[in-house]
Amino acid sequence: MVLSRTATESDVSIHSTFASRYVRTSLPRFKMGENSIPKEAAFQIINDELMLDGNPRLNLASFVTTWMEPECDKLIMDSINKNYVDMDEYPVTTELQAISFFGNHAQNRCVNMIAHLFNAPLGDSEAAIGVGTVGSSEAIMLAGLAFKRKWQNNMKALGKPHDKPNIVTGANVQVCWEKFARYFEVELKEVKLSEGYYVMDPAKAVDLVDENTICVAAILGSTLNGEFEDVKVLNDLLLEKNKKTGWDTPIHVDAASGGFIAPFIYPELEWDFRLPLVKSINVSGHKYGLVYAGIGWVIWRTKEDLPEVLIFHINYLGADQPTFTLNFSKGSSQVIAQYYQLIRLGFEGYRNIMENCRENAIVLKEGLEKIDRFNILSKDNGVPLVAFSLKDHSRYNEFEISDLLRRFGWIVPAYTMPPDAQHITVLRVVIREDFSRTLAERLVIDIEKVLHELDNLQAKITVKKTSEEKEVQNVSNGRIVVKKTALETQEEITTAWKKFVLEKKTNIVC
Ligand SMILES: Cc1ncc(COP(=O)(O)O)c(C=O)c1O
Repeated sequence: MVLSRTATESDVSIHSTFASRYVRTSLPRFKMGENSIPKEAAFQIINDELMLDGNPRLNLASFVTTWMEPECDKLIMDSINKNYVDMDEYPVTTELQAISFFGNHAQNRCVNMIAHLFNAPLGDSEAAIGVGTVGSSEAIMLAGLAFKRKWQNNMKALGKPHDKPNIVTGANVQVCWEKFARYFEVELKEVKLSEGYYVMDPAKAVDLVDENTICVAAILGSTLNGEFEDVKVLNDLLLEKNKKTGWDTPIHVDAASGGFIAPFIYPELEWDFRLPLVKSINVSGHKYGLVYAGIGWVIWRTKEDLPEVLIFHINYLGADQPTFTLNFSKGSSQVIAQYYQLIRLGFEGYRNIMENCRENAIVLKEGLEKIDRFNILSKDNGVPLVAFSLKDHSRYNEFEISDLLRRFGWIVPAYTMPPDAQHITVLRVVIREDFSRTLAERLVIDIEKVLHELDNLQAKITVKKTSEEKEVQNVSNGRIVVKKTALETQEEITTAWKKFVLEKKTNIVC
C-alpha cells in the first residue's frame, strides 16, 4: 500500500500526449476535474501511465498468480459485478464458494475440497468448517481471533486472568502476524533465528509457551526462504508439554504458500489435520492455488474450534446468512476462479504444475551454483523458490545486484533476514507456474552479466582510487583537502541504504 502524499509543484497535473487528441487541458492529479472527459481519453490516460509498471510475469518477488487461462479470465469478467456477500441473490456462487458453518451450506464446494486436501477429520456427509477471505492475512486474523476467544473462554471458566494473551511464532513470520498481534492486542513472542537456521526452532517455540499462549503458529513455507517448518516435531513436543502442564495449547499452520504445494508433491509430509494439535490452517488461493490476487481460505478442524460468538447472522439480504469475515462486500470473481482451477486441474493438474515449479527451481539453483558466487539459502523441498546470498560482500552487495537486474526487466527483491540473522542479506526468486525453464536459464545468464558489470565497475573504481590517492599525496604545504574517492562515496551510500533497510522491518515481501 502507498500512503497518500501531498503534491509538489511539478506533479499536480497529468499530461498525456495521445489523450491530447481528446482533451486539450491537463488534468489535476489530486483533485477531481471540474468537467467530464471522453471515455477514450480516460482510458488512454490511465493506460499510458500503467505502461510504466513492471511486467507482472517478470516480477519474481511475488508468490501471487500472474497468469490464468483465457476461459477463466472470461468467467472472472462475467462475474465481476457480483457481490460475494449477496448469498441469497447469487446462490450458485455461494454454493461454489466459501462459507461453510455448522452444515448450513453443506455443499459449499471450495471449502470442502480444501478441507479434504488438508485431511480434516470429516465424516462422509459432514460439512467442513471454513470461509473464503481476501487472502491469507484476513484468514490469519480470523483464525487468531478464534484462538483468542477460545483461550479467553477457557481462562474465564477456570476463574483465571484473561487479559494478557500471547502467541508464539518464529521471527520469520510474515507481517500479517505482527498486524494480528498489534490490531487484536496479543503479545507476539518470537523465536529468534540464527545464521544458517532461518525457520522457527520447534523446541525453542515450545519453551516460550506459557499458560497465556493462545496458539503456536508454524509456517508451511517461510516467506523468506520457502522452507517448511517442522510441524510434526512441534506437535509432538507440544503434546508432551500440554500433558505435563495440563494446558491445551493448539497449533495454527500458516500454509499461505505450502497449502497448495505439500498435498500434491509431499503427500507423506505430516503437517495438517493429521496432527491432533493443528486446529486451523490458512492458505492463499492467489498463491499456489493459482488464482489472481484476492482470495484466501481458512479451515477449522471441527466446529468446536470456531467459537459460535464470532459468527454473525444477518437476514437483510434474504435468508439467514452466517458471516465471519472482516469485510462485508467483495467481488465474487476470485471464488469462481478458484472453483474453476480446482475442477479444471484436479489433483493431477496441480501435481504436474507443482512438480514443474520444483524442477524449474532446481534448474535455477544449479545455474547459480555453477557461477560459484552465491550461497543457496533455500531448500529443494519447500516452496519452489531460490533464496541466495553473495559469498563475498567485499566489493558489492545483493541490493546492487537487484538494482541492476531491473535493467533486464527482472524484479528480484533483496532483503535482510529478521533477528538474530539480520546481518544476512538475501536475493529471492519465486518460481510460479508461468516461470518456465527457458526463463530460469535466461535469468542465470542475466545474473552473470550483472556480476560481470559490477566486477568491471569495481576494477575501474579501484584504478581511479589509486590515482586519486596519488593526487592527494601530491598536494603539499598543508592545504590538503581530503576528497572522497568514488569507492568511498559508493560504500557510504550502500551503508546508508542498508541501515535504512535494517531499520525497517523488512519481512514485508509477499
Ligand atoms: C507465510 C505467509 N503468510 C501470510 C502471507 C500473507 O498472505 P496474503 O498476501 O495472502 O495476505 C504471506 C504472503 O506472502 C506468506 O508468505
